[in-house]
Amino acid sequence: MKCLIVVYSYHHHKTQKIAEVLGKVFDAQVKSSQQTNQEEVLNYDLVGFGSGIDSGKNYKELLDFADKLPQATDKKAFVFSTSGMPVGISGQRRVEEYTSKCHRTLKETLQSKGYTIVGEFGCAGFNTNKFLKYFGGINKGRPNSEDLKQAEEFASKLKK
Ligand SMILES: Cc1cc2nc3c(=O)[nH]c(=O)nc-3n(C[C@H](O)[C@H](O)[C@H](O)COP(=O)(O)O)c2cc1C
Repeated sequence: MKCLIVVYSYHHHKTQKIAEVLGKVFDAQVKSSQQTNQEEVLNYDLVGFGSGIDSGKNYKELLDFADKLPQATDKKAFVFSTSGMPVGISGQRRVEEYTSKCHRTLKETLQSKGYTIVGEFGCAGFNTNKFLKYFGGINKGRPNSEDLKQAEEFASKLKK
């Protein structure tokens, strides 16, 4: 199965770290959405789409990318993100619930383009947006080695 990972990550490049781990498991090329032509996505059977979260959704740049994808048939996709949800207070389960909601627009767009969503992954990412920078940010050090391990396990299960 030919797999491609498309990622948009800029704040602290934390989603990029997740993308690299997923890419290793799937033996997939990891490309930023800016580097990727929508037409070339059709060459892959499985495509992972990931970004940080802004205003409760995947980054607009990735949503715009997905919006411009050509119609596909018989393709599979998974989505992933890192978010600023404070995992230390909320716990991992709450982060997963939150990110699943945040992924909704991206998942719906991909489904409308003919992709079957086969999985999603979300974890905490370092966040220094707005006033948070004055307090040293939240989710410092995230994703950590445990998050990366979780990402690896997610991909390994999906691969099977
Ligand atoms: C402009 C901006 C808006 C953000 N909005 C949210 C948000 O609505 N919810 C959230 O959980 N995190 C939010 N974050 C935090 C990021 O999603 C988080 O830090 C993520 O790990 C960044 O990923 P990146 O380093 O790959 O860009 C926001 C960050 C920025 C810079």
